[in-house]
Amino acid sequence: MVHFRSEKPGGTMFREPFKIGDITFANRVLRSSMGGRNSFYDGTVSPAFVHFERRFAQSGIAGIISATIAVNKKRMSPLEYPSLHDDRFVEPLKEAVRQIKEGNDCKYIVQLGDTGAHTHTSLLPQDEDRLSASSFFDLFYGYHNRSREMTPDQITAAVASFASAARRVHDAKCDGVEITASKGYLIHQFLNPFTNRRTDRYGGSPEARFTFLEEIVKAVRKAVGREFLFGVRLSAKDFNYLPLNIRWPLSPLRDYFGGNDLPQTTEYARRLKELGVNYLHIDSGFGFPNPHGSPGKFPDQGYHTFANATRHLSTKALVRAVAYNLTPAFIRRNVYGFGYRFVPAANADFADAIKKAVKIPVIANGGFQDRAVINGALEADKCDMVAIARPLLANPDLFRQLEAGAERPTNPCTFCSLCCAQTAVFPLGCYDEDRFASREDMMDQIMAWSSPNMDMPIARPKATKTGVCAS
Ligand SMILES: Cc1cc2nc3c(=O)[nH]c(=O)nc-3n(C[C@H](O)[C@H](O)[C@H](O)COP(=O)(O)O)c2cc1C
Ligand code: SF4
Repeated sequence: MVHFRSEKPGGTMFREPFKIGDITFANRVLRSSMGGRNSFYDGTVSPAFVHFERRFAQSGIAGIISATIAVNKKRMSPLEYPSLHDDRFVEPLKEAVRQIKEGNDCKYIVQLGDTGAHTHTSLLPQDEDRLSASSFFDLFYGYHNRSREMTPDQITAAVASFASAARRVHDAKCDGVEITASKGYLIHQFLNPFTNRRTDRYGGSPEARFTFLEEIVKAVRKAVGREFLFGVRLSAKDFNYLPLNIRWPLSPLRDYFGGNDLPQTTEYARRLKELGVNYLHIDSGFGFPNPHGSPGKFPDQGYHTFANATRHLSTKALVRAVAYNLTPAFIRRNVYGFGYRFVPAANADFADAIKKAVKIPVIANGGFQDRAVINGALEADKCDMVAIARPLLANPDLFRQLEAGAERPTNPCTFCSLCCAQTAVFPLGCYDEDRFASREDMMDQIMAWSSPNMDMPIARPKATKTGVCAS
């Protein structure tokens, strides 16, 4: 188990510039991928998407990593997330990025992904939402009763869809492209020995499980050229086991409970560097959300809503919802929520190990809010940059507050993770009612985040009832 032990109050390193490839970032803080239902139904970015991103671009941070933008027409996960599966999306994205960046020294990196069998929602069930490396049952993630093994032709098409989408990112004049091999999404399903039981050239050994990602990386590099900024988001350690998550068929206990560990991921990181990847974006865990990737409280109310909102999609989804509805709240919180806790700089030590071993620029993700924690990780050289999601959603002016000398924002994110659990079914925003003077204030804030009208102010939370939950 790793522990973060280098907090440095008063530091200013977060303000120093950093260069990756040809791109110079104005400072060390990035907005991490944060997706919401703010695009049109076909996946075209909307004015609401622009205004959501622009609020961060104006906040002093050095760059934004987009939500996971879909490369596959069929797997829009969730609905109303942006897509880049066709050339028709290039011009709207190009204009959106122009507007987001206008007047701000904020780089824009598009993260591309394919959710595979972890597709969260769909209007109605569709077979494409269960494609994966192999056939398996997973109670928590995805809605299909069972995933379906991809054929070699489907794999070839998936590789090509990443390359085409990456070329569109380049054509839309973004500053870089990131492929997500994390979050339990399709590439991660190939990397993870629990979900990849193949015996062809895409599975059967750690090297073979890397083949799908390797083919994607080669195709993407070819599509965007040698100079374009290209990163990969990687889970340092799978932590496959979640309490009560039933998975089938059983696998060797090491894979069932563990999955890829740090030495294996470090080897993958080394290969990615050799393949011409410019940076790695490090988190951990398998599936979104999971206790390691989104360190904090168990978002019971959010999962409850999600389970009910998706129960029409399959027998599994229905059983999940019924179980949730029948289980008393205190049992849900204590049993389903086992393992959820806040850990500051949750993945900084993983980032550190990979950075030292591979000597590649590394962005650490998860649990960064306090100035001491951010600076501690940077000054200890555990990572080169930090990526922040929930604390920036809670306080879009977080960077300005830290710049002005604050150690912690006045009304900090509580890491309740409700925003993560709600994002597939509700508008994006902060859902911790305790941070607001009233429920109406909270709703106003959510509506403002999702509004296509930039003039609508984000209500500053008035209450300060809560603090950061203890680790
Ligand atoms: C509302 C919301 C939506 C998110 N959407 C994505 C996404 O589309 N792709 C992704 O890779 N991560 C996504 N994440 C995960 C964040 O990028 C980040 O890894 C996680 O929240 C932990 O970082 P934090 O402690 O700074 O919040 C999302 C997080 C939140 C809160
Ligand atoms: S306090 Fe708000 S922004 Fe922070 S995790 Fe909770 S819902 Fe998300």
